[in-house]
Amino acid sequence: MQALMCLLSFSAGLYAQGVEPVRAKHGMVVAQEPLAADIGVSVLKSGGNAVDAADAVGFALAVTHPVAGNLGGGGFMLARLADGTSVFLDFREAAAQKASRDMYIAPDGNPTRDSVFGWRSAGVPGSVAGLVEAHKKFESKPWKELLAPAIKLAREGLTVSTPLAASLQTAGPLKQDSESRRVFLRDGNPYKAGDVFSQPELAETLQRISDYGAADFYQGKTAKLLAEQMSSHGGLITVDDLKSYKVVERTPLSGTYKDFQIITGPPPSAGGLGLLQMLGMLDGTDYAKHGANSLEAIHYEAEAMRRFYADRSEYLADPDFFNVPVKELLSPKYIEWRRNTIDPAHATPSDAIFPGLPKALNASARAMHESPQTTHYNVVDEKGNAVAVTYTLNNSYGNGITVPGLGFLLNDEMDDFVAKPGAPNMFGLVGGDANAIEPGKRPLSSMTPTIITKGGKLFMVVGAPGGSRITTGVMQVVLDVLDFSMNPQAAVDLPRFHEQWKPDFLYLESGFPKSVEAGLQQMGYALRPVDGVARVEAIVIKNGTLEGGTQSRYHGKVAGY
Ligand code: DON
Repeated sequence: MQALMCLLSFSAGLYAQGVEPVRAKHGMVVAQEPLAADIGVSVLKSGGNAVDAADAVGFALAVTHPVAGNLGGGGFMLARLADGTSVFLDFREAAAQKASRDMYIAPDGNPTRDSVFGWRSAGVPGSVAGLVEAHKKFESKPWKELLAPAIKLAREGLTVSTPLAASLQTAGPLKQDSESRRVFLRDGNPYKAGDVFSQPELAETLQRISDYGAADFYQGKTAKLLAEQMSSHGGLITVDDLKSYKVVERTPLSGTYKDFQIITGPPPSAGGLGLLQMLGMLDGTDYAKHGANSLEAIHYEAEAMRRFYADRSEYLADPDFFNVPVKELLSPKYIEWRRNTIDPAHATPSDAIFPGLPKALNASARAMHESPQTTHYNVVDEKGNAVAVTYTLNNSYGNGITVPGLGFLLNDEMDDFVAKPGAPNMFGLVGGDANAIEPGKRPLSSMTPTIITKGGKLFMVVGAPGGSRITTGVMQVVLDVLDFSMNPQAAVDLPRFHEQWKPDFLYLESGFPKSVEAGLQQMGYALRPVDGVARVEAIVIKNGTLEGGTQSRYHGKVAGY
């Protein structure tokens, strides 16, 4: 095996030769749509802090990047301020009061598609409340200034780019809804690159948010219209649901990996816990010695992924409804026990891996038996404040429904709950009771906004969209930078892989050498091709210079000054 591994080892250089990041001295925004990234930088240049810029980018993306930028979805903001404090704002969607555990089970006992399509798939949106809350806490610029660029783009229109035209033309869910067809598809005369795309209803909604803040969206005209439309289409969200929606400020999770301090998202995201657990399993192996994406590195990373996703299925959920054993899942003893179950030469079949915690309590006796759409953006300002935001409608264009009169799309985040124990959701994730639907509860997420420091100084800001692959994608880019010394552009460009326990496949992006694929198959992995494992975006601070990486094959932009 050792010989095989040596033979098939590849250094990072083989994959990413001479890729240089965009560099900047003062401030940087990395986002998945260029107009929004530029808006963020102009906020920074005019004296706004990183949170101001993050708010402006969040609203701008709702106009320029409708596939994922949103008012009708939810997400997470992780901020680490220059004084060393960090804050996590949970503005994830919540299940409506009328939601119930079996609401997506058909009479034949099987899950319906209603968690993905139709008005009942939407959770109570949190994005507007989240961005408002961030501004309340870290206010530096006047609120209206942060919304003005988004309002202008919605009202006067933006010039459709080639990627936006392509995205709209291929957006299946938009075709199913008459209002979406009108707003986004011009009733069968789809936008082409160079056309001007204006969104007057969205501009009015944004204007009310600018004038009245969260009060409009959750109690005012927007709330009333949204609730009326919900009720006339059989949706569940009421004025009371909107009124009682709250942003939850949570303590970020943190842990160390080698010389680095990792600050990341707590539940209801599984992402941060997964990142820390997987890094913990890898630390203490010499997985890195053959280089990034070597057979050995892929094997150890994939086995760490498999073990975490087994735990995810059982122990991760909204902590306000389920007692998530965070401490236990991150305890060094437990992680060591999990690590010791990795066979250096073979893939462990997922059927031989279970959610592990109770076993760890009796580890010595039992160890042998264990055999496209969200968006992420990063901002760093001149003072060293850093913000990582991942927010989402879940699917591309959410459930595809535009609320008449309001101009924004609704999420289908309810699909992130477990509709039925053991039945896979749209990302193939399975789970149990912990993540069952309950009124007011937030569905389990994979979003992994993360900030890393070294010696007390800001080192990296990172995150991604990508459904269940977010956590593994973020981890790989973190390892590429921390362990394989890559710059962030080279790191995000490197081919990635993904393993999520069930189904028992190792998903590979294109670009891995055939010999590595053959080596993995020989070790027992069932390989499956995958389009992309998370569109990771990263900023790294090196000797006082900001370096940014965005996926060049997509439409992102590193904007800095
Ligand atoms: O919160 C989550 O984990 C999912 N709703 C994220 C969805 C996603 O990233 C889809 N896009 N690529």
